[in-house]
Amino acid sequence: MPILEREPPKGRRESYVLPKVPVPPLKQTLDMYLSCMKHLVKEEQYQKTKAIVVKFGEPGGTGELLQKKLLERSDKTYNWVYDYWLEDMYLNQRLALPVNSNPAMVFPKQNFKDRKDSLRFAAHLITGVLEYKERIDTRVLPVDFARGQLAGTPLCMKQYYRLFNTYRLPGHKRDTLVIHKPGSTEQEHIIVACKNQFFVLDLVLDLVVNKKKLKEMDILTQLEKIVKMAENSEERQPPFGLLTSDGRTEWAQAREVLIKDSVNRESLAVVEKCLCVLCLDDPSGMEVGDTSRALLMLHGGGHEKMGANRWYDKPMQFIVGEDGVCGTVCEHSPFEGIVLVACTEYLMKFMTGSPSKMGRAISVSELPTPARLLWKTTPHIQSLLKASAERLQRLVRDLDMDVHKFEVYGKEFIKKQKMSPDAYIQVALQLAFYRCNGRLVSTYESASIRRFHEGRVDNIRSATSEALAFVKAMTDEKASLSDSEKMKRLWDAINAQTNYTITAITGLGIDNHLLGLREIAQELKMERPQIFTDETYVASNQFILSTSQVPTTVEMFCCYGPVVPNGYGCCYNPQSDHLLFSVTSFHGSTETCSAVFIKALDEGLVEMRDLCRKSNKPQSSAAPAASKAGENNQGAGSKLPSILQKTGK
Ligand code: COA
Repeated sequence: MPILEREPPKGRRESYVLPKVPVPPLKQTLDMYLSCMKHLVKEEQYQKTKAIVVKFGEPGGTGELLQKKLLERSDKTYNWVYDYWLEDMYLNQRLALPVNSNPAMVFPKQNFKDRKDSLRFAAHLITGVLEYKERIDTRVLPVDFARGQLAGTPLCMKQYYRLFNTYRLPGHKRDTLVIHKPGSTEQEHIIVACKNQFFVLDLVLDLVVNKKKLKEMDILTQLEKIVKMAENSEERQPPFGLLTSDGRTEWAQAREVLIKDSVNRESLAVVEKCLCVLCLDDPSGMEVGDTSRALLMLHGGGHEKMGANRWYDKPMQFIVGEDGVCGTVCEHSPFEGIVLVACTEYLMKFMTGSPSKMGRAISVSELPTPARLLWKTTPHIQSLLKASAERLQRLVRDLDMDVHKFEVYGKEFIKKQKMSPDAYIQVALQLAFYRCNGRLVSTYESASIRRFHEGRVDNIRSATSEALAFVKAMTDEKASLSDSEKMKRLWDAINAQTNYTITAITGLGIDNHLLGLREIAQELKMERPQIFTDETYVASNQFILSTSQVPTTVEMFCCYGPVVPNGYGCCYNPQSDHLLFSVTSFHGSTETCSAVFIKALDEGLVEMRDLCRKSNKPQSSAAPAASKAGENNQGAGSKLPSILQKTGK
């Protein structure tokens, strides 16, 4: 079974040879690490950390040895950080996939007349999926180019090739990302979930004389049969999809029990090879607003609603609810949200732009009845299902979600201030967090490194010292500071954020580098260096604020859960005249509340606008280090981030 795609893609290739992700200079990373954490930990702890970091980085020290090994690894591999990152970010994580890991894309609410109407939509959607998959397999997807900061460079397309041919297999300690060969004949079916039952919908029929691909009308006929079969309560199977919603170790253990029986083994093998899962949901009975639709995408509302009508390991899972609640929930390890947006926008445009073609490829009599997946249960398996259902229910009850459209202004206003909209929003998020908690915390903002071969993401640490100075100016020191001082601090914060963004997207972020140094030490069977056992390092990886920009050009939005129990997940979608935020947290934490955070964000965004308005003209002279987006197309490290200038690099 192939584990990770290592071969260059066959067939038509992208004509761009992308550079390898660089290994940043050791001293640069260590200096940046100290600057990032200085204001986030107590002074005494910082001094301790500083001594540890200095020792780690001294000539002939552990840092130099590990750096040398990383450089050797970089010489020998396409991408020195990819495997380390994939395992650390996803495969080693033991938490349940719904809420904790799988993001969702919420489609516009559909107005279906009846179930048949929703099935027509589903058949059309799957036809679009097949068309898109064909484009992937034949390598005709146009190459993406960077927009925004350092615009214009080609981006790595590999994530697209993992949309439909991957599967996250649970493991006791580590999951495996299984990759099937693109265009494999084993992958000619989708799984349709309906009333917690799973059906195999073959998309290619092996007829006696030839193979025939199902057309939209055929798919619709098959979906209608599936809905009928799902209604037959006599043949109903237990809700096995629930097991995939559990913790990864729990699911791996349950799977081991399941596969003792050949019926279960066969059913699992069929699911694990499918192209995607299509979930035909019953009406949820919930009021259909943005927030409730987002919740239904993230966790299905638990086992009493649609939570068992899912198979969370499968990267592409489309949901079509009879009540018009539609979207996708995705296993995240094979690709990033930006690739998901590209795929789903294609599908949305396909849905609205190309009318349903209801011609038939195969006569109804030739269409076989879709097979229902069968499961063998035992009392032990029943108890595992019950335990999974309870744990999912706890997760459902705990999630505090608020989807909010900020309509006062959008990214055009921010651009007019000659500021980067992304940096501005990040600073506003820091202000909101400070307002709610009176401190700043380690923050994660995903920065795409697709400029590099097999590049995924690194982290923009948005809780900069400049952001702290600004948020204090807008809160604790508000009364004592002039507007021009506040504006200067806003510019400093925006510049620091913009510079960090450029550092990260050019492959010089610190998170991947520190991870690489840590992991290579482990590979060398060294005792874990003190820098990685230090309290500050632990705090630096507790992303209480986990943020990501996922912009869309059609009406839909992305959302995901927090990554720590006392944290916020904040996905935002900047539009010309408004900003959309999906904020999540856990009710179980006394430190968080999504509605309170949204309120603070709203207020801060209005105050930031007022401050900009009061300042007569944009103070571009106060922005010496930030590059204007699109103007700087130089390579990695061409501009020294202010964060490094401060540390004397
Ligand atoms: N003055 C005027 N306009 C500016 C500006 C300035 N100082 N700085 C930027 N802009 C413009 C840009 O030209 C761009 O214009 P466009 O809308 O016409 O393209 C727009 O503002 C947006 O730029 P900016 O807000 O700076 O952000 P960005 O698009 O460069 O995005 C990141 C920054 C970090 C979000 C991006 O690099 C990235 O990595 N995205 C991927 C995130 C990701 O992976 N998310 C999914 C995770 S699952």
